[in-house]
Amino acid sequence: MTAQTIDGKARAARIIDAVKRAAEALRHETGTEPGLAVVIVGEDPASQVYVGSKARTAKECGFKSVKHVLGADTTEAALLGKIRELNADPTIHGLLVQLPLPGQIDEAKVIEAIAPDKDVDGFGLTNVGRLSTGAIDEAFVPCTPAGAMILIRDVVGDDLSGKTAVVVGRSNIVGKPMAQLLLAANATVTIAHSRTKDLPAVCRGADILVAAVGRPEMITGDYVKDGAVVIDVGINRIAAPEKGLSDDGKPKTRLVGDVAFASAAEKAAAVTPVPGGVGPMTIAMLMANTLTAAYRAAG
Ligand code: GUN
Repeated sequence: MTAQTIDGKARAARIIDAVKRAAEALRHETGTEPGLAVVIVGEDPASQVYVGSKARTAKECGFKSVKHVLGADTTEAALLGKIRELNADPTIHGLLVQLPLPGQIDEAKVIEAIAPDKDVDGFGLTNVGRLSTGAIDEAFVPCTPAGAMILIRDVVGDDLSGKTAVVVGRSNIVGKPMAQLLLAANATVTIAHSRTKDLPAVCRGADILVAAVGRPEMITGDYVKDGAVVIDVGINRIAAPEKGLSDDGKPKTRLVGDVAFASAAEKAAAVTPVPGGVGPMTIAMLMANTLTAAYRAAG
């Protein structure tokens, strides 16, 4: 079988277009302009790229977009102070702190300091609780699994009754909420991880296979059932000596997912590429969540 390549970039562009039009309508009807604040601590290059992209897309959507860059030596107290300030700012409807944070800062404490009605990442306990108790309509759902779920629904349909889904990875940001979403859509869900015995065999049981392990091209065709839908959440930068050297004399790099695309595509019915699959959907869902937060604030 030669798999369909799922075009997350085009799907995300359609969502962003719809968000843009809805934001314009909200402004017209209520005078409310959606506002997104992103906070980054330190200079992790990947985080800088993600945060820049989030802030830029927010502007494209017609939102107020503010980026707060804090030094790597920022104290936890200073960051919590910034969050309190943004929680109280009525022009900000969505607030996120880019992870990971430097070691001196307790991530759980920071996430919990964000007001639940501005927690557009959906990482705080209130939103996690809403998702896991089935109150999905009230929850802000974490953006990466929410985006992945749209791609799955596009291909498989809204009701996953009778389908088996395997999520490889158990992070709070992707693996666990992804499993909750699949479960809410009636799939039979397994969460697999680094300690799972015979991972390829477990994965070969999946009609829907979601890879969120953070290991470049680990999921080969050997992990894929014939006709499965494979969703690659990984974003890994690896050396690409075939592209030559960059200015600093090191090999150039390229992005790959957790799935070995060509090998998986020999078995799957549909696969998301990297780049251009789940990545753009994450940002689109952040915009959708921020718009929802603004609508709620406008009453
Ligand atoms: N780090 C990696 N992914 C994410 C995300 O979706 N949100 C935040 N805040 N940090 C991240």
